[in-house]
Amino acid sequence: MRTERWQIEGDASLEEHPAIVRAAQVIRAGGLVAFPTETVYGLGANALDARAVAKIYEAKQRPLNDPLIVHIAYLPDLTDLTDLADLPDLTQELTRTFWPGPLTLVLPRGPRVPPIISAGLDTIAVRMPDHPVAQALIRASGVPIAAPSANRFGHVSPTTAQHVLDDLDGRIDLVLDGGPTHIGVESTVLDLTADPPRILRPGGTTRERIEAVLTQLGKRLPIGDRHPILNPRSPTPQSSALPSPGMLPSHYAPQAELIICRDIGEMLARHSALAGRHKKVGLLILENQRAACENLYPQFVLGNTMNDVARNLYAGLRALDSAGVDVILVTDVPREGLGEAIADRLVRAATNNKMEREHALNWQP
Ligand code: TXA
Ligand code: MG
Repeated sequence: MRTERWQIEGDASLEEHPAIVRAAQVIRAGGLVAFPTETVYGLGANALDARAVAKIYEAKQRPLNDPLIVHIAYLPDLTDLTDLADLPDLTQELTRTFWPGPLTLVLPRGPRVPPIISAGLDTIAVRMPDHPVAQALIRASGVPIAAPSANRFGHVSPTTAQHVLDDLDGRIDLVLDGGPTHIGVESTVLDLTADPPRILRPGGTTRERIEAVLTQLGKRLPIGDRHPILNPRSPTPQSSALPSPGMLPSHYAPQAELIICRDIGEMLARHSALAGRHKKVGLLILENQRAACENLYPQFVLGNTMNDVARNLYAGLRALDSAGVDVILVTDVPREGLGEAIADRLVRAATNNKMEREHALNWQP
């Protein structure tokens, strides 16, 4: 199959843009469209069409036990997709505060939704993306759109249309190129079927902001639930439907071995040790580490702030992979705000490396 690529920019009356009209036609015909969201690019299909959804799993080579997120543009669609006639106060407050935005809510699945979406679970994950192209596509299609990240299974998520094509060219019908995504890490997945609610995957909406809303309603997140799967106190899911397979340790992995260093001193020491063993080493660094890493190439500068790091992390991993390095070195980030999601992705990307994995398993919140 030939993959069509359509460029699209701006947010004025996007619904009539020829790219959106064409993409919506593909969605309604049961095809696959990759599109930008504020987090990463998604690979979309009509969520109410089980055969279209099956194509997503096939194109990504994703196991059928890994459930998908359904993307909506109108709040009433949430009632339609879930089993809830009235949304509970907490759900209402969370959608009011964070939608559209990078928060995915897990709720009871309604009878209209084909079970393949949720890998047979009786829940459904829903979010309203905060991106004009994503919203225009959903509106123009007239159906909710199921979409995982538009990468091959287990690979780093795409933050540009070119990343999508690098993984899926010829396997999908169309990609809408809306430029690089703004947030760069995936949405936070919050399970509202658990009491208290539980973060299944840290992401673009920070724990601190979710906590603040829960507190208003007299609830709180369970203590010590960070990195539940990597935390030795929680069992690793092995059942056929995984509670949130994004939490699998080996997700989001580059080809190269990633090593997370405590600080710049350890990074430089490891660099010279590895270079001495004729390893090709790539560096993922912050702006303020540039001077210390002068003349050490290849290097990829992530930026200054945690927002910059989140936005550029996957592009950096892909770029260093393409440069053919054996090892990527990066320094650890504080686990607060967006840092929690970044640290989570780093640990998963480092999971090929036995030592890092042990470090992760011993890590306590
Ligand atoms: O930012 C994002 O969330 C992106 C964009 C495209 O929206 N999507 C994304 O999808 O990251 P995906 O499929 O790569 O990750 C979806 C995550 C997985 O960890 C999956 O296990 C979890 O959401 N998930 C989906 N449905 C679930 C359910 N019913 N119960 C628990 N977890 C669920
Ligand atoms: Mg993914």
